[in-house]
Amino acid sequence: SPGAQQWVPDRPTHAGLRRAAQQCRGCDLYEDATQAVMGDGPVPAPVMLIGEQPGDQEDRQGHPFVGPAGRLLDEALERADIEPGSVYRTNVVKHFRFTMPTPGTRRLHRSPAGWQVSACLPWLQTEIDLVRPEAVVVLGATAGKAVYGSRFTVAAARGRTLEWPDEPRVAYPPARVHVTVHPSAVLRSRDRDADLRAFVADLVRVREGLG
Ligand code: URA
Ligand code: SF4
Repeated sequence: SPGAQQWVPDRPTHAGLRRAAQQCRGCDLYEDATQAVMGDGPVPAPVMLIGEQPGDQEDRQGHPFVGPAGRLLDEALERADIEPGSVYRTNVVKHFRFTMPTPGTRRLHRSPAGWQVSACLPWLQTEIDLVRPEAVVVLGATAGKAVYGSRFTVAAARGRTLEWPDEPRVAYPPARVHVTVHPSAVLRSRDRDADLRAFVADLVRVREGLG
């Protein structure tokens, strides 16, 4: 697969990026998804949240974090005193990957393969150059591996403040990268209240770090 770069406009606007991603054939995930889901939010924005890939609802509606994980994310942001509309949210992969064990039934989320994440990275790099966030928040392991490589774990990186690495290259690296869990992990947790409190505490640190 060629990767997404050849579909990224030379002088992109955010609207142009959304349009261009609909044509992307950088990996095979466009084949079964409804549409590419580009990030959403103010441009520029002080904070960029990076998730994994659109889910079922995001794939249908064309916007990130509009399903159950997004509702939990909104609740956590509000509890952390961050206005949900003030942050830019996106995903490392722009098309929904799923399986459908029996035809015609519910589409089940499937994590993207490493090569699909790599293929899709030019879109994220371009978003960062447009949004120029002061702080990036990595939500979960897929986003973390996309930025820091396959040895990344949330457990090792959570609670520390990281630098944006040399690769994936961006023109305006964020001053800080924070790492926390993915909101879907909080939804699935057996101790949801405690995990939600810890998630909110991570987001409070993001707000407190802003200049
Ligand atoms: N999970 C993600 O990682 N991103 C979304 O947009 C929705 C669910
Ligand atoms: Fe292109 Fe990313 Fe979609 Fe693959 S997942 S086709 S690289 S936009």
